[in-house]
Amino acid sequence: MEETETDKTKPSVRKRADAIKPYRCKNLIAVIENPKNIKNIGTIIRNVNAMGVEKVYIVDPGNSFPEDWQELRERRALSKLSVSAIKWTFVKRFDSTEACCDHLEKKNYVSIVTSPHVKGKKSIYLDEGDYTEAPKLAVWFGNEGHGISPLAVERSEMCVAIPMFGMIESLNLGTSSGIVLYEVTKQRREYQSKYRKRFKQSKRDEPLPTVMPRDES
Ligand SMILES: C[S@@+](CC[C@H](N)C(=O)[O-])C[C@H]1O[C@@H](n2cnc3c(N)ncnc32)[C@H](O)[C@@H]1O
Repeated sequence: MEETETDKTKPSVRKRADAIKPYRCKNLIAVIENPKNIKNIGTIIRNVNAMGVEKVYIVDPGNSFPEDWQELRERRALSKLSVSAIKWTFVKRFDSTEACCDHLEKKNYVSIVTSPHVKGKKSIYLDEGDYTEAPKLAVWFGNEGHGISPLAVERSEMCVAIPMFGMIESLNLGTSSGIVLYEVTKQRREYQSKYRKRFKQSKRDEPLPTVMPRDES
């Protein structure tokens, strides 16, 4: 039987999926709270996939997305905007911020929120944070207009800001996810390369690589 294009690409896709597995950040979730612009959701899913974040949670009080993430994956607009990253990314939706916080807390996740403003019990700049302290971490991004909700702030451990040097108040939601998740995943990958377990237990004799060897072709 003649080999089809799909048959030809499948092993290379599988090979890539296996190669990236050790670099994925375990127990790290990006939460998007009440996003309005599908382009931003596509960008975040793309960033999440590219940085090796484990999952995306979407707080969707307006019921804009299906319950079943398989159905979400098949949405053409989202697939196109995320350059198909949605196919490879676990996405779960919640009806409310409260439901999402309850779920995360039940699973022992610590939440941190992001905002250009000073909020909550502790506010820091991105580069001041240690994002490896919590074994399970959820990083929240707020709505394009209103930002992060007071409830998400209240149920989070701290608020992280990307320093701003311009005349504008904030960055775009999708852009800020890229910047924040880059720092968080970099730190957590370094941690995972050195330790097998939480709280700096079970140190590896030889640290694992933190970047993938690049294909030189
Ligand atoms: C367009 S901003 C929302 C602006 C809104 N007026 C506010 O008060 O936050 C959308 C989201 O992007 C993220 N964001 C934007 N700029 C940021 C910054 N400088 N530091 C941290 N997060 C930022 C936050 O998650 C924010 O909720």
